Amino acid sequence: MKIKQIFENNKEWIQEKLKKDSDYFSNLSKGQDPDILYIGCSDSRVTAEELMGVAPGDVFVHRNIANMVPNTDLSAMSVIDYAVAHLKVKHVVVCGHYYCGGVKAAMQSQDLGILNPWLRNIRDVYRIHQAELDAIKDEEARYKRLVELNVQEQCINVIKTAEVQKAVLDRGIAVHGWVFDIHSGKLIDLKIDFSEILKDVMKIYHLDS
Ligand code: CO
Repeated sequence: MKIKQIFENNKEWIQEKLKKDSDYFSNLSKGQDPDILYIGCSDSRVTAEELMGVAPGDVFVHRNIANMVPNTDLSAMSVIDYAVAHLKVKHVVVCGHYYCGGVKAAMQSQDLGILNPWLRNIRDVYRIHQAELDAIKDEEARYKRLVELNVQEQCINVIKTAEVQKAVLDRGIAVHGWVFDIHSGKLIDLKIDFSEILKDVMKIYHLDS
């Protein structure tokens, strides 16, 4: 992919949009009112908008290595705060994907320098679910399950935040855990039952409003 080509593509994209709606960009510039916050992986194959079939303005997006929501990560915390408290999104999605390089790296004991503290968050997920994961003999199946459990744990990290706790009580905001299967292109809803998980964790993380 040549950089020059990107600017050519952009010109074509503008023409396409204007052909359908001559006010497209003037309307887009008025502001955003997305219903969904999507937190996904930076992986170039997991293109948030394209795989969901959504348009500019539909989804507020945050991506990082292995779709993490570390409790002290200022970037993720700021995105959640802005999306929930200011944009008033109705749904927060954490979307992982099978064959995630970040999750794979966390399963290996290699020293990866600056990536170590980031990947340690995934190793913590492994530690929390060690009994279940160690019982899976097939390595690929274990890797896939860690991808799913990582999504679940990052959803819990979303729910731990004060903004989301408030929004759940005030206006019933929903948190969803999804996985994108690169092999088939399918988006899978993990249908995580947060009410059950929350019964246990909220005793620890509950914040009074
Ligand atoms: Co990934």
